[in-house]
Amino acid sequence: MNKIRWGLLSTANINRKLIPAIRMSARGALTAVASRNQQSADAYAAKWEIPQAFGSYEAMLESDAVDAVYIGLPNHLHAEWSIKAMQMGKHVLCEKPFALTLAEVDEMTAVSRETGMVLAEAFMYRHHPQTKIAGEWVRNGRLGDIVLVRGHFSFTIQNRGNVRLVPEWGGGSLWDVGVYPMSLAQFIMGGAPKSVWGAQWIGPSGVDESFSGQMDYGDGRSAQISSAFRLPFYTWGEVMGTQGRLTLNRPFTVMDDGTRQLLFHDADGRVEEIPVPEKELYLGEVEDMHAAILDGQASYLDLAETRDHVRTILALYESARTGQRVILD
Ligand SMILES: NC(=O)c1ccc[n+]([C@@H]2O[C@H](COP(=O)([O-])OP(=O)(O)OC[C@H]3O[C@@H](n4cnc5c(N)ncnc54)[C@H](OP(=O)(O)O)[C@@H]3O)[C@@H](O)[C@H]2O)c1
Repeated sequence: MNKIRWGLLSTANINRKLIPAIRMSARGALTAVASRNQQSADAYAAKWEIPQAFGSYEAMLESDAVDAVYIGLPNHLHAEWSIKAMQMGKHVLCEKPFALTLAEVDEMTAVSRETGMVLAEAFMYRHHPQTKIAGEWVRNGRLGDIVLVRGHFSFTIQNRGNVRLVPEWGGGSLWDVGVYPMSLAQFIMGGAPKSVWGAQWIGPSGVDESFSGQMDYGDGRSAQISSAFRLPFYTWGEVMGTQGRLTLNRPFTVMDDGTRQLLFHDADGRVEEIPVPEKELYLGEVEDMHAAILDGQASYLDLAETRDHVRTILALYESARTGQRVILD
């Protein structure tokens, strides 16, 4: 096996980003798509020129047509289908948020270990050179001691039937887009916070349509994050240290529109643009799966980090619900 044959598990909107990435990767091929009915699978396969179309997710998992699947299902189905896929001998790249409870994360992790199938969270921005460069600036001390990380992700949901507005399906702005600044803070701080505070506005849908959170990492280090479904599209990030700060104008998506993205502001107020090599945003997570499956390399984003993502989000929601600070174990 020198090429991974990929199957798309559903005709999700987000597939349109993965399809070009799989096709431009050196060691991947897109061979199949599955949908809950044959008609939709056939139409999707014709539109995107995918060789095989399955009329159920099970049918694709039972077939020998794919080695790995990409799971872009609504959030409440991530765990169930990741587990089924691994049990049927398929490697899994599963969208964020990985799962909605720690029990689900632990079960997914256990099944990955038992079956030997690679399992990874699809956090594409973590694989992009811009994020890795920001991490290097932090680790090599260029910013001094890190004191504060701030980040934001919002967009406006126009269609009130959107799956992101269904409470029992893992809807909510924190689960959907707040996970990005939360995970950036975790990446920069090198782990989960010690305690969190959250505040949310629950819209008519019953989910948080805006959220803000404060995370404490000890030793005077903290992070502030916000997310919303009721603001125009906007992403932003900032890493502040005793010797200067980095601003990330597009920390999570659309990093390739030609504007100045990653800036260093030194302690005297001078501003330097940090060059970032161009890279297709979704390619890194696909290449990382190939390296894990074909070369036995450890996944760049490991499952312990993924578990901390879910742990922190759950703590933030608990704090928003109770009005109390929540201490993480
Ligand atoms: N990393 C990123 O950049 C990024 C961006 C957007 C979204 N996401 C994540 O990707 C996932 C999917 O988001 P999306 O916006 O692409 O979703 P979407 O367009 O609503 O697609 C979800 C797909 O799931 C399938 N499905 C199975 N059961 C369903 C049910 N009960 N209700 C609705 N659909 C059902 C459907 O496919 P079939 O009809 O073919 O079965 C549907 O097309 C989410 O977890 C989201 O957080 C990630």
